[in-house]
Amino acid sequence: MKQLYDYQLKTNESFREAHKKSIENPQAFWGEIASTFKWQQPWEEVLRYDWSVPKTAWFLGGKLNITENCLDCHVVTHPDKDALIWEPNDPNDATVRYTYKDLLSAVCQFANGLKNQGIKKGDRVCIYMPMVPELTIAVLACARIGAIHSVVFAGFSSTALAARINDASCALLITSDGAFRGNKTVPLKDIADQALAQCESVKKCFVFQRTFQEINWNPRKDIWWHDFIEGLADTCTPAIMDAEDPLFILYTSGSTGKPKGMVHSCGGYMVYTAYTFMNVFQYQPEDIYWCTADIGWITGHSYMIYGPLACGATSLHFEGVPSYPKWNRFWEICEKHKVTQFYTAPTAIRALAKHPTKLIEDYDLSSLKVLGSVGEPINEEAWHWYDTHIGYNETPIVDTWWQTETGGILISSLAGVTPQKPTYATLPMPGIQAALVDNEGKVIIENEAEGILTINYPWPSIARTIYGDHERYKEVYFSAFEGRYFPGDGALRDVDGNYRITGRVDDVVIVSGHNLGTAPIENAINAHPAVVESAVVGYPHDIKGNALMAYVILYESIEDNATLISEVREEISKQIGPIAKPDRVMVVSGLPKTRSGKIMRRILRKLAANEIDQLGDISTLLNPEIVDEIIAGLAKE
Ligand code: PRX
Repeated sequence: MKQLYDYQLKTNESFREAHKKSIENPQAFWGEIASTFKWQQPWEEVLRYDWSVPKTAWFLGGKLNITENCLDCHVVTHPDKDALIWEPNDPNDATVRYTYKDLLSAVCQFANGLKNQGIKKGDRVCIYMPMVPELTIAVLACARIGAIHSVVFAGFSSTALAARINDASCALLITSDGAFRGNKTVPLKDIADQALAQCESVKKCFVFQRTFQEINWNPRKDIWWHDFIEGLADTCTPAIMDAEDPLFILYTSGSTGKPKGMVHSCGGYMVYTAYTFMNVFQYQPEDIYWCTADIGWITGHSYMIYGPLACGATSLHFEGVPSYPKWNRFWEICEKHKVTQFYTAPTAIRALAKHPTKLIEDYDLSSLKVLGSVGEPINEEAWHWYDTHIGYNETPIVDTWWQTETGGILISSLAGVTPQKPTYATLPMPGIQAALVDNEGKVIIENEAEGILTINYPWPSIARTIYGDHERYKEVYFSAFEGRYFPGDGALRDVDGNYRITGRVDDVVIVSGHNLGTAPIENAINAHPAVVESAVVGYPHDIKGNALMAYVILYESIEDNATLISEVREEISKQIGPIAKPDRVMVVSGLPKTRSGKIMRRILRKLAANEIDQLGDISTLLNPEIVDEIIAGLAKE
């Protein structure tokens, strides 16, 4: 029987062949790859879909547990290999390692704890934790018993946390006393307490002790992690899951105020994340793979936990930030652990590039074989800096384009196997049928073109729905262009068919790699009693990629705008999190509107970017004089 690694594509020709086969016969293609995994019961049908509903199902009738494939299978073949290497925030603290055997035991023990507390298959469990190994253990323990995990990034506010808990009616919250982030300590339990005051569904709160800071204790709800796992068995029979049963929910911002709980299922997600991990990063058995993301985002789910572990890889997790204690921390970790694949975000690359290269030159980075980028378009300058200073102009760079909704990488080169091109994600992965369309939805045939990116055929890890709102799922992803998945991104294509993602075509702005819908930020601003209306737009920023500018109209003009601006920023921080605070807030007497009353965001974006000469014809505006007012305001900034 063939093994997963028999499907590792090692030459450009084998990539081309695999892609061709995946298009000609997708079911045979994915069926073969899926058969390399452990199934409790084989599937009856590889794919059934109808995107007019929309409905997509893979490996129908198949039964499995993803943790068996991520843990038990490797415990049989390589029990003592490191599954997880954990590097703490403070470089003076010890590295922690979990072999596959250790990780399975820890996951089973925690899974037994979940069961003891009455958590069962299908229950939703919210996880709001720092980047400690226990976060991964909690995630996998949920998957072990078939509970649906919903990880919320630990930088989100209590209001954002509560909204996510309530949206999925989570039965349990897992958090920690606090989190270390560089030289800061974040009071996670306090934030969780504030959230839980608004969440009736949560019966229990498990608290992992990380910072040992003082916290409030609610004896009716709170249980220490170390208390409830004590004495529990470290084996736990995996729940038998249908391939289409939900594995997790992960929230992403959208163009309206409410976050979208993307639902991923067990079978297809496992197959696709493992296949793409192995191929994009060209993982080899001895490699030490490091992705610097946070598990609160999809990159952490797919390419720190599930993909690497399903491939039996060693995945390095880092608790801290690139600047602590100094801006050399990433390189110190690369040298210390002889990291072979390093996967980060353009915003981190740009921030690192601002510091002297001396901070890199002190370290031996010769172990690096692959560099990766994800989360937003990588600009030319950052790409070349990465290539020159970290890759010494010879390490392949993979620029991976994908989304929370896609579950896994859809467009990327395969490291050292298929050609790379600076700032281009390059070619669609096997199984991915991409197309560019124009505004009317007409497919652009010629290769060299610019348009809206769409995907025309299902792949195994596409999110199956938005939790509790299938209509919205249909509306957002399947109604813009009939029969096609619409990711919300624009793209360029070159003569060779390589794609370069140019950015969002909707009201989502990517700030430091975080997706932020402008609508929820505007809602937070409008909640201030002095505010009538607001508009938030993104504009280019050297390090963050984009920054936010808010234009705010007040009921009455006031003398002290500074206080109001800081209150508005605070409100945003409270409702969403500090990541959503705008860099610039301008009080204006009106917003440029069309005659039908629609805010002309395009003009606001141009103004924020200081592209005053590119405003175009503004004479059709209802209130063109407002543009002059804003230009005068910009001059005073
Ligand atoms: O606009 C694209 C951008 O990030 C969006 C997805 O964000 P999120 O769901 O948070 O997932 C990020 C991690 C997969 C996309 O719609 N994006 C992601 N990767 C790239 C990118 N833009 C350009 N190039 C990329 N490599």
